[in-house]
This record gives sequence, C-alpha cells and structure tokens, in this order.
Amino acid sequence: MESGTGRVVSGYRPSGRLHLGHYHGNLKVMTNLQKMRDCYFFVADWHALTTEYRDTSMLWTYTQEMVLDWLAAGLDPGVCTIYRQSDIQAIPELMLYFSMIISLGELERCPTYKQQLRELDERVVNTYGFLGYPVLMAADILIVKGEEVPVGEDQIPHLELTREIARKFNMLYGSIFPEPRPILSKVPRIPGTDGRKMSKSYGNYIDLMDEEEVIRQKVRKMITDPARVRRSDKGHPEVCSVFDLYRAYPNMVSSEERARECRMAKIGCTACKDEIAKVIADDLSPFKERRKTLYSDESVVAQILSDGAKKVKLIASETLEEVRRSVKIARV
Ligand code: TRP
Repeated sequence: MESGTGRVVSGYRPSGRLHLGHYHGNLKVMTNLQKMRDCYFFVADWHALTTEYRDTSMLWTYTQEMVLDWLAAGLDPGVCTIYRQSDIQAIPELMLYFSMIISLGELERCPTYKQQLRELDERVVNTYGFLGYPVLMAADILIVKGEEVPVGEDQIPHLELTREIARKFNMLYGSIFPEPRPILSKVPRIPGTDGRKMSKSYGNYIDLMDEEEVIRQKVRKMITDPARVRRSDKGHPEVCSVFDLYRAYPNMVSSEERARECRMAKIGCTACKDEIAKVIADDLSPFKERRKTLYSDESVVAQILSDGAKKVKLIASETLEEVRRSVKIARV
C-alpha cells in the first residue's frame, strides 16, 4: 500500500464533527501515511457547496470542528500539510481546463452521480456544479500532482474520472499529470447502528465524543444475527454487524475468539455488545482528551489553514503555469 513516493492528497467535505466511520475508514490511514509520505489534506468547502449552497451559514463552524477532530485524531500540521480548498484559487482555473475536455456522458454515467440524483432532492442537485463534482475533485488532486489518494470505496468512480481526465489532458497537451491511485483502508467498513453505512444523514453514527454509556446504548440497539432468538441459540457472526465492529479493533480484542464463542453460544448478544462498547470507548479516550484541550483554542485552526495555504499556493501556481504553457493559453 505505501509503495509510492509521490504526493498523497485527500479532502473531506466540512460536515462538522466526525464520527467513528471516518475515524476507522480514512483518518487512521491518513495519520499513518503522514509519517511516511508528503501528505496534503484539505477541507473541501467548495465541494460542500455542490449540495449545501442554499444554507452556507455553518461552513466555517463545520470547517473548524472537522480540523480540530483531525488534530485530535493525530494529524500533525508539522508533518503533513493541512489547508482549505477555497484558499487555492488555482483549483477552479484548473477545473476550467478539465471541464473543456471531459465529456458530459462520462460525468452523467458516474455511478455516484446517478445514485445521489436519486437519493437527494433533485431540485437541489440538478445543477451544473453538482454534475461537475468529479471535475473539481480531479483539480484538487492534480493541482498538487497527487499520486495517491486515501479515500473510502465510494470515491473510486471519482478517481477513475480523475485518471481519465489526466490521461486525456496528457494526450492532448503533453504529459504533465500523474494518474492517481486510491489507497483504501484495510479495516472493513464500520456499520452504522442500523446496519447501513455509518453516516450523519442516516443518524446511525457513534460520535467520537460519545461517552461510554452512550456508546453502550447505541450498540445495544444494534440488530445482531436474526436467527439467534434465544441466548442458547448458536450465532452466525458473519451476518452480525456487531461482529463487524469487533473486526475494527484487531489490536484490542480477538475477533476469532469472539466468533468461536458466538458460534458455540458461549456468550450472549448483550454481553458481547457491552464488551465491544467498552473497547470502542477505551480506544477513543485519548482522542477525547486531546479534543477537549484543543477546544479551548479558537485561533488554532485559522493559523494552521493559513500556513497550509501558503505552502500549497506555491505548488499550485507552478502547476498552473505549466498547464497554461501546455494549453498555449499562457501570456505571450
Ligand atoms: N469527494 C470526497 C468525499 O466526499 C471529498 C473530496 C473532494 C476529495 N476532493 C477530494 C477526496 C480530493 C480526495 C481527493 O469524501
């Protein structure tokens, strides 16, 4: 996985406080990668606008909360570069060139686009900007010539489009962009408390600041193996979403051992749930401590973002100069 040497880049839409799904999915990958690679992590506030353009009042609050969660989770601005998309004005110019060469059909066929169009309010997302979501994402990545992108599985189609855009640009104007590859988390996806993907909008998430008691209550409500009605019935961990939680903590608890006990009906679902709730809470406790101390310092995020922007602007303007020369749109 950590085989490359080029830049690593990833962004999060500012949706406020992060939850356990983010923590295990991507954030752990990012905190590990920062030690080994040249990493660029940014707040994708323009991307937030593609769906939330009607009410933008919370953007800055959400940005701050998210960056503080990143810091508490271990991202270190002394080691990686943390910035805000909207500070880098070269990004929309790069997006403009990309929007000339990507075909409408490719954007319309993008599975995430089709799915979101079905799931979200069509009157809101039936826009040019929303269709162009992956084009903006390609510009985010390629403005710093990112080679690898830690993302969730749902972003894979967007990265395919990024590669397609890079290929097409390179073919038309000369080879200047890498074709970025995804880096996926090895931990299986953390289920939400209703078994669906953990998501803020489904209201099925474990908040990173939840106290142990709250985590226990949430886990207790989870549906386990439906075939296991009585305590003495043998369980099937492979169909149980509580078991998926166990698999996210290989260093703290043995999921094989737990699976065996479940299959032999040696442990009941309530005890099993309470145990993993405690593991989750214990694992989160250093995060919570750090997050509480960071909370008191208001200016910290603004400073980090401004330092990050300074650095990324230099790289971005170099890339843009190169692009302008290649497209022959440069000043004569
Ligand atoms: N689309 C990503 C998400 O919803 C956010 C994002 C925007 C991103 N630009 C990016 C991720 C560039 C990686 C690289 O999670």
